[in-house]
Amino acid sequence: MSFKDKVIYQIYPKSYLDTNGDGIGDLAGIIKKLPYLKLLGVDMIWLNPVYPSPQKDNGYDISDYTAVNPVFGTMEEFESLIQKAKEHGIDVMLDMVLNHVSIEHEWFQKALAGDKKYQDYFIIRDETTDWVSKFGGNAWAPFGDTGKYYLHLFDITQADLNWRNPEVREELFNVVRFWMDKGIKGFRFDVINLIGKDEVLQSNAMSDGKPEYTDKPITHEYLRMMNEATYGSDPEIITVGEMSFTTVENCIMYTQPERHELSMTFNFHHLKVDYEEGKKWTKVPFDFAELKRLFHTWGTQMSENQGWNAWFWNNHDQPRALNRFVDVENYRVEGAKMLASAIHLNRGTPYIYMGEEIGMVDPDFESMDDYVDVESLNAYQELLEQGKSPERAFEIVQSKSRDNARTPMQWTHEVNAGFSKATPWLAVGNHATEINAAKELEEGSIFAYYQKLIRLRKEYPVIAEGSYQAFVPEHESVYGFVREHNGQKLLVLNNFFAQAAEVQLPEEFVGGEVLIDNYLSTEVTSDFTLQPYQSIGILI
Ligand code: GLC
Ligand code: CA
Repeated sequence: MSFKDKVIYQIYPKSYLDTNGDGIGDLAGIIKKLPYLKLLGVDMIWLNPVYPSPQKDNGYDISDYTAVNPVFGTMEEFESLIQKAKEHGIDVMLDMVLNHVSIEHEWFQKALAGDKKYQDYFIIRDETTDWVSKFGGNAWAPFGDTGKYYLHLFDITQADLNWRNPEVREELFNVVRFWMDKGIKGFRFDVINLIGKDEVLQSNAMSDGKPEYTDKPITHEYLRMMNEATYGSDPEIITVGEMSFTTVENCIMYTQPERHELSMTFNFHHLKVDYEEGKKWTKVPFDFAELKRLFHTWGTQMSENQGWNAWFWNNHDQPRALNRFVDVENYRVEGAKMLASAIHLNRGTPYIYMGEEIGMVDPDFESMDDYVDVESLNAYQELLEQGKSPERAFEIVQSKSRDNARTPMQWTHEVNAGFSKATPWLAVGNHATEINAAKELEEGSIFAYYQKLIRLRKEYPVIAEGSYQAFVPEHESVYGFVREHNGQKLLVLNNFFAQAAEVQLPEEFVGGEVLIDNYLSTEVTSDFTLQPYQSIGILI
């Protein structure tokens, strides 16, 4: 299976559909929605972690890698999900969190109890470095009462694993094999570019320690080992690595087929263009020139070097893209389609995050009490400590919180948006009456636009396989690119603003076939005007 013509749909299981009335989404809920997913046309569903976990970081703190959290269902239900999905032509991708485990995991508990074998599963030192946790504060915490410290790049309850230890690697490869044996055809590897740490760890005051543990050469070796020991034997399996603070050079290496590491990588640079001075917890308008520059850099470099991008606008860690990149009050529908075209017609595998296909927006919560995410709560406190007023701190959290994406899927206009009969674990967004799947299927046009994009990727090799070149890279409001394959060319133009934009078309595209357009009956002339948030694909 090549992954180039596939489209992957991400489900946050906690928030998809609750079938047993505990306010938390479950596996049975996903099974129930398989016909909906089939209608959309996606090839694979990626589930955020469904393993047993104390849920300090919503499942990314795993306490047992080879079981299902009872809150989501049983192993039998999980197996039935794989099988029923298959019957709908859909495969399942699992989230593998192999950089760290919960401190409640048996390995950490044994280590704490003094077992030397398991102490070598973690990164434990007499002295700490100055590294900062990605969720704020010191990245080191006291290891019991031993006087030593263990490393946690994320929450204090997420202890980093020691990949230098071959026994740890073998344990983790066994986990991957366990799920392969169940019929899993995709793996999303959480923060996988952080697994390689040096023997001697160094402080790095300049950048919170990041260069000391990010994209280390040894990480490429570990990935090759994992590939060889596990998924490399099955050409149908799709792998995607989540890369924190990475570079295009490294992502080319992670994904070049002959290196046998991963199928594709997620990077986050394009989703930091609305960070002030690189800081997430700020609120400024997005920098279009920078967004375009990043798309072109990653597009051309990956294209010229046989690397492969995983493209996305939304996931469970990001506020909704519509609120970030579009005048959502006035152009929600046009903007949703334009954003979709910009990645679905691009070179790379597109991911759809649940709710994106119906144009879901941020929930617009009105109080800090509505937020539950550990990162958001920490950030609010830090903003107050920095001297921000409570109003400003709230405004920033409201625009950047990960909970923006994690609110329940909006299915209907009924109570709790049809997600659950009970009070949901996280409040439903404030726009569920106007934005929900039932209404969208009845009278909307975003879902149908996604269906079309998914179909086109399968019908036109120029979309799945074509090369990538920048078009009008200096344009101040249009992101354009050309795809080319076996003599066929596709020009894609995306207007990222609410004002009309002029473009000069090269002669060869004038009169070309309009493959897809989010406005009606556009005529392709040489002096071409794009309407607000218009996106058009012209084939010759
Ligand atoms: C990834 C996940 C995020 C999680 C973190 C730690 O970035 O996407 O949700 O908090 O890793 O596992
Ligand atoms: Ca439930």
